[in-house]
Amino acid sequence: MEADKAEAKAAQLGEEEVQGKETVKIYIMGKEYRVPAGLTIMKAMEYAGYRFIRGSGCRAGFCGACATIYRLEGDYKLYTALACQTSVIDGMYLAQLPFVPANKAIYDVNKVRAEGNVLMVYYPEIARCVSCNTCTKACPQEIEVMDAIQAAVKGDIVSVAELTFECIQCGLCAVRCPAEIPQYHVFQLARRLYGKYILKPAKHVEERLKEIKSGKFNEEMEKLMRTSREELRKMYESLERVED
Ligand code: SF4
Ligand code: SF4
Ligand code: FES
Repeated sequence: MEADKAEAKAAQLGEEEVQGKETVKIYIMGKEYRVPAGLTIMKAMEYAGYRFIRGSGCRAGFCGACATIYRLEGDYKLYTALACQTSVIDGMYLAQLPFVPANKAIYDVNKVRAEGNVLMVYYPEIARCVSCNTCTKACPQEIEVMDAIQAAVKGDIVSVAELTFECIQCGLCAVRCPAEIPQYHVFQLARRLYGKYILKPAKHVEERLKEIKSGKFNEEMEKLMRTSREELRKMYESLERVED
């Protein structure tokens, strides 16, 4: 995870020293703030007075809405991170990316076929990849982005879909790509085709759908709809948890 990269960098800069302090100095959109050490970037921004009305979703590393780029004092490199998953480091210069305006092909997945080099047809720019691996280094999900693009160039939809299963569409790879490839849109098309035409339908899902259509759960659903909020809360709290 990106947090690991940040921690490694922090160690290099003397994180022990930072942790010992109550606050760290960060820069948000160029303005200096002192915030409690240990906060995530997102919480630190809220602490500094910013409100995420748009551009923040799950706050748990799943939605990709909190893409961030930053630099550290005394370091020329640009780092990437998810603001909800990465802790602040003393001397961080932060900038949020609310949206990446990358090219997105328009298609109807019911009409596109998973054959030939369909990914190249919709995204011919993948042929411009220069194999620099910058996208892989930028990815907070540790996806082998360059390998996935190379698989896309070869028309290998299965490999693209499998390599990018954990893509959260944050767009950080596209921001850093010198060939201006919208990797995550290419990957999304591959996963859609994989799900629709290549993966075998899950038997248990088909069976459950049949049960739902046959009305097996209607009575139970109607009973739930009549249950009070308080009663529902009690039922929820008494549910047995399945451990990971
Ligand atoms: S592949 Fe790109 S869009 Fe997907 S998670 Fe990685 S950096 Fe974000
Ligand atoms: S950053 Fe762009 S050009 Fe470089 S490896 Fe990734 S897709 Fe290819
Ligand atoms: S807010 Fe969803 S990944 Fe950070």
